[in-house]
Amino acid sequence: MNISNALVLDFGSQVTKLIARKIRELNVYSEILPFDTKIDEIIKRNPDCIILSGSPASVHDRKAPKIDSKILELDIPVLGICYGAQIISKMLGGRVEKSKIREFGPSKLKKLSQSKILKNISNNQISWMSHGDTIVKLPKTLKILAKSEFGSISVFASNDSKIIGTQFHPEVMHTSFGKQFFKNFLDISGCKPNWKPSRLVKSKVQEIKETIGKEIAISAISGGVDSCVSSVLVSKAIGKNLQSFIVDTGLMRYKEVEDILPSLKKLGVRPKVINASNLFYKRLNNVVDPEKKRKIIGKTFIELFEKEARKSRAKFLVQGTLYPDVIESVNVSGPSAVIKSHHNVGGLPKKMNLKLVEPLRDLFKDEVRVFGNALKINKDLVGRHPFPGPGLAIRIIGAVTKERVQLLQAADKIFIDILKSKNLYNKIWQAFCVLVPIKTVGVMGDERTYENTIAIRAVNSVDGMTANWSRIPHNVLDLISSEIINNVKGINKVVFDISNKPPSTIEWE
Ligand code: XMP
Repeated sequence: MNISNALVLDFGSQVTKLIARKIRELNVYSEILPFDTKIDEIIKRNPDCIILSGSPASVHDRKAPKIDSKILELDIPVLGICYGAQIISKMLGGRVEKSKIREFGPSKLKKLSQSKILKNISNNQISWMSHGDTIVKLPKTLKILAKSEFGSISVFASNDSKIIGTQFHPEVMHTSFGKQFFKNFLDISGCKPNWKPSRLVKSKVQEIKETIGKEIAISAISGGVDSCVSSVLVSKAIGKNLQSFIVDTGLMRYKEVEDILPSLKKLGVRPKVINASNLFYKRLNNVVDPEKKRKIIGKTFIELFEKEARKSRAKFLVQGTLYPDVIESVNVSGPSAVIKSHHNVGGLPKKMNLKLVEPLRDLFKDEVRVFGNALKINKDLVGRHPFPGPGLAIRIIGAVTKERVQLLQAADKIFIDILKSKNLYNKIWQAFCVLVPIKTVGVMGDERTYENTIAIRAVNSVDGMTANWSRIPHNVLDLISSEIINNVKGINKVVFDISNKPPSTIEWE
């Protein structure tokens, strides 16, 4: 079967990967190549259409990234998004100028005529704009199909719909009709929905084989799905040359290590368990600042990594970095844009003599789960909620102690078990307890109590970048509250977090 292929050429926009993702969600294969990929290479891949991404650059820059003009002569549909649209119109003789009004944010789509690309998209729907240059004049061969709320050119196309441009970003979720827009473009291109994410497994395994060759790679497995899936993938590619281990930080979920070992072993991954909880507790003693906690945990982790790596003479380090980790950790607009120095990405010291293998770097969590299923990883493991690297340390407000960790583990287990028994766990993206060591007064039997608070947090999300609090039914909340207070000595209050991200974040620290 001929698999349809939508090729994305990347001009460096922060959200290029979302284009490929949106298309893959429509079951059409999509891969991203750099903007300056040679035309022969593009032809070799036999794409059904090409999409030019946005860019932080301006078409007026002396070194503005350009495409080979032959791309527009390939006789396959080309869609330009934002910068991509500007460069197309400039190349074909249109005019692009610095914007008088900088359009940033939501803008209602003002349709001017019927067209294939705007099929089933009604007037006044919200599109998302973010541009410093504006197309002020189109070449004769292109026609305006829609304007923005402020009257700038929003969508254009050639008569045969082979060349299409949009000033807004259909790939971001704020554009309410983004999916339909891509569907229309794929229909115009004759793409068939004949691809599923599991097909990527084979090519990933091959890619890993070629990268690592006969060298040794090490991987650290946490309780999360990402490190498990990436380790199983690498193990499929290089077999015994993958040496994996689990660092028991003492900050993991209740009996986490014992839970995950059997399913990994079944798949041929036999991680060595390193019990380092005392070291982590010692280094975290009296540390209350969340960023400091992250740094200490990250550093200790790396130290243990390096020790293992030296013993094994590994040349590669496997990490389960996902795409949202990459974009959330990159500082795009000045120092204030770093919200949390989290995720595997930013924390690695440069001196580390290991090359990174990050097989999931292009993927989102739900795509990783599809991978996990295709690799026959135990359903419980694949379905596990995401868990942050610094573990429970950032779910205990203030100082971390062994006793507090145990309190939190006990409450968290009750919460999660109830969600599972009520069939809610798989409907929620991430759920957990937070220990708020603020003492409040309660009454138990005839006794006055003066104990800690547990906050329960449950969110629905697609990728963790934005999130809404989950509407857990009141009767279930009631059960969770009474089970925690009755069974976890040291807790006399349970509160439910009803904040969304943004402006809140998912974790409390
Ligand atoms: P926030 O709290 O930033 O969380 O809204 C978004 C997602 O990232 C996870 N998270 C982390 N993951 N190291 C990680 O590996 C970290 O330091 C970290 N902080 C947050 C969080 O659990 C959620 O899934």
